Amino acid sequence: MLTVMSIPPTTNQVQGPAIHVQGLEKSYQQLRVLRGVDLDVPRGSIFALLGSNGAGKTTMVKILSTLLKADTGTARVNGFDVATQATDVRESISLTGQFAAVDEILTGRENLVLVARLRHRKNPGAIADDLLRRFSLTEAGTRRVATYSGGMRRRLDIAMSLIGNPPVIFLDEPTAGLDPQARIEVWRAVKELAEGGTTVLLTTQYLDEAEQLADRIAILHQGRIIVNGTLAELKALLPPAKVEYVEKQPSLEDVFLAVVGAADTGGQDRMTRSNTE
Ligand SMILES: Nc1ncnc2c1ncn2[C@@H]1O[C@H](COP(=O)(O)OP(=O)(O)OP(=O)(O)O)[C@@H](O)[C@H]1O
Ligand SMILES: [Mg+2]
Repeated sequence: MLTVMSIPPTTNQVQGPAIHVQGLEKSYQQLRVLRGVDLDVPRGSIFALLGSNGAGKTTMVKILSTLLKADTGTARVNGFDVATQATDVRESISLTGQFAAVDEILTGRENLVLVARLRHRKNPGAIADDLLRRFSLTEAGTRRVATYSGGMRRRLDIAMSLIGNPPVIFLDEPTAGLDPQARIEVWRAVKELAEGGTTVLLTTQYLDEAEQLADRIAILHQGRIIVNGTLAELKALLPPAKVEYVEKQPSLEDVFLAVVGAADTGGQDRMTRSNTE
């Protein structure tokens, strides 16, 4: 998690799409990574940006979070221009990178209290306890983060990014390297965020992650968004599948989750549903 700065509640009140991007271009020397990206992300939705390695997903996220300047084009986040109103953008967002940025020496609770203090929040202890509860980390809260699993670290990282209630959050490959159980835990946390009105832009290489989470999915390829729509719209791009009567085999993921006990993580519903689709 990147602690950007304190977030006044007034930033929640800006109207329009949460993210608006038009004609965005970015090159690194000769390498043209973004060649005219257009996209809009409605408020309170989960938007998945898909793309293969090197497609430019992290570059997009860095530009939207003001860490990198675009060459041309415009990008607005929470109504603010990333180039000319960077401070307002930073006050509106949080960014969780691919590698969890939590302090190993501290406990989970101490990490949260630290960020709450840095962001000048009142009652940092109460904020920490609330987030630990929301992310099912209450038991682990008093343990050093060095003893946490990858999924626990990632959940703590996301929890830290929520302090101050930023209206827009960026998650760059939030479940990379996590096992299926931990991924489901992170997915659940992300869904809860969107239900609470937060806009989430996440990048992923996992198609099932986009399928599970996103209201809209865009595919970044060769510097442009080549597809952008709901899952149903994307599926409609392909000809309807022929009906074949074959026995439905569970996927390896279904088997893995059944054996390790997905029910404990709240993933049972999803697993059952995917078996019957
Ligand atoms: N600072 C930099 N200088 C030069 N080239 C860079 C720089 N940052 C990224 N690139 C190149 O730009 C391209 C896009 O990188 P980016 O990290 O945005 O891709 P990505 O879609 O996030 O990939 P991944 O899925 O591997 O995370 C890659 O070819 C990468 O090597
Ligand atoms: Mg990346």
